[in-house]
Amino acid sequence: MNIGIIGSGTMGSGIAQVAATSGYKVKLFDTNQAALDKARVALEKILARLVEKGRIVTSEKDRIQANISYVETLKDLSDSNLTIEAIVENLEIKKNLFSELESYVSDACIIASNTSSLSIASIASSLQKPERCIGIHFFNPAPLMKLVEVVPAIQTSQEVLETSVKIIKDWKKTVAVAKDTPGFIVNRVARPFYGEALRIYEEGIASFETIDSAMKNIGGFRMGPFELMDFIGNDVNYTVTETVFTAFYFDPRYKPAFTQKRFAEAGYLGRKSGKGYYDYDKNGHLIQRDSVIQPENEEPLKQLIFNRILVMLINEAADALFLNIASAEDIDNAMTKGVNYPKGLLAWADEKGMDWCVSKMDELYNEYHEDRYRCSPLLRKMNNENKTFF
Ligand SMILES: NC(=O)c1ccc[n+]([C@@H]2O[C@H](COP(=O)([O-])OP(=O)(O)OC[C@H]3O[C@@H](n4cnc5c(N)ncnc54)[C@H](O)[C@@H]3O)[C@@H](O)[C@H]2O)c1
Repeated sequence: MNIGIIGSGTMGSGIAQVAATSGYKVKLFDTNQAALDKARVALEKILARLVEKGRIVTSEKDRIQANISYVETLKDLSDSNLTIEAIVENLEIKKNLFSELESYVSDACIIASNTSSLSIASIASSLQKPERCIGIHFFNPAPLMKLVEVVPAIQTSQEVLETSVKIIKDWKKTVAVAKDTPGFIVNRVARPFYGEALRIYEEGIASFETIDSAMKNIGGFRMGPFELMDFIGNDVNYTVTETVFTAFYFDPRYKPAFTQKRFAEAGYLGRKSGKGYYDYDKNGHLIQRDSVIQPENEEPLKQLIFNRILVMLINEAADALFLNIASAEDIDNAMTKGVNYPKGLLAWADEKGMDWCVSKMDELYNEYHEDRYRCSPLLRKMNNENKTFF
């Protein structure tokens, strides 16, 4: 099976490595020769390191490299069975590319996009045969992250969906099938992890450090929200939030925070700029602050913070299920495999109990009277019926 990948940047080169490692023949195309050269050199380095660490043998490295060819025209992808586009996130540019690509490939070729934020239906509309179009959304870095969201558009045929899922599973990835809605699963359900943490900080309830510590030490998350926003980049994370907020017709649940906007505007982007919510040295390592004087016993405060962020995440996951964005299994897999959450949110809801979830949401709503804190109808219904997700 031949795979064509368009765009040899961060994502395209990672996806090429994944497919080539699973024995598929890959052609990687980019309009920018320097980007192609960079991808080739980067892959050489990554594979050499894997050999050094004893993770693969030299013949395996050679085999993976031989599976990838670097091509200079879109027409070179004409013998592809599946193409995955990973170019700049711009609808018009993607549509023009798709329409040109369709004139080169066979009728049976699946044409996929790795877009994070554009609607698959709108991209598909540029094709003569829109039923062959689908979203195949990898996470960064593609070779390491287990999850791939597969997103059929309303035009996508069942056969294209099934074949795409089969191929991605063959690349040893966990597939979560998601409805073509803003943020798909992960970028929607994860919003409160950042948004509620920022809101708690803005209300003056706790510092970045205390909020991060609550999520790590009580919740078992690998990174706290502020550490993670610094890692992703405040510019990138803010843009995703703003895009999701706009796409959801300004639903207050996804409202961005001024704190993050100002950090992005000031150039306090996080690790990559040396300064964000924390300070970093030139290798991106955290510079420990002089210890701030903390109140004697912060445990009750941390418990409160953890409960508030967790219930907002659970509420978002439950609402995604309520609106049929994905199955309960896929929603939980998406969060554990796509962003390394310590537990699936719906399984966590079962553990905490539906009455706990509903009462915590109602407490927030009663305190603030904001639509942001409305309890998902599904949580309320399940509580009334004494049901669990699993
Ligand atoms: N970076 C992430 O974390 C991430 C995660 C998931 C999905 N995505 C999505 O993947 C896509 C690519 O993102 P990225 O971070 O790899 O970008 P990138 O900037 O690293 O790479 C994009 C590449 O596309 C090339 N390109 C631009 N226009 C082209 C065209 N018309 N034809 C061929 N090549 C072209 C550029 O030269 C560049 O090398 C975007 O749609 C993005 O939303 C990104």
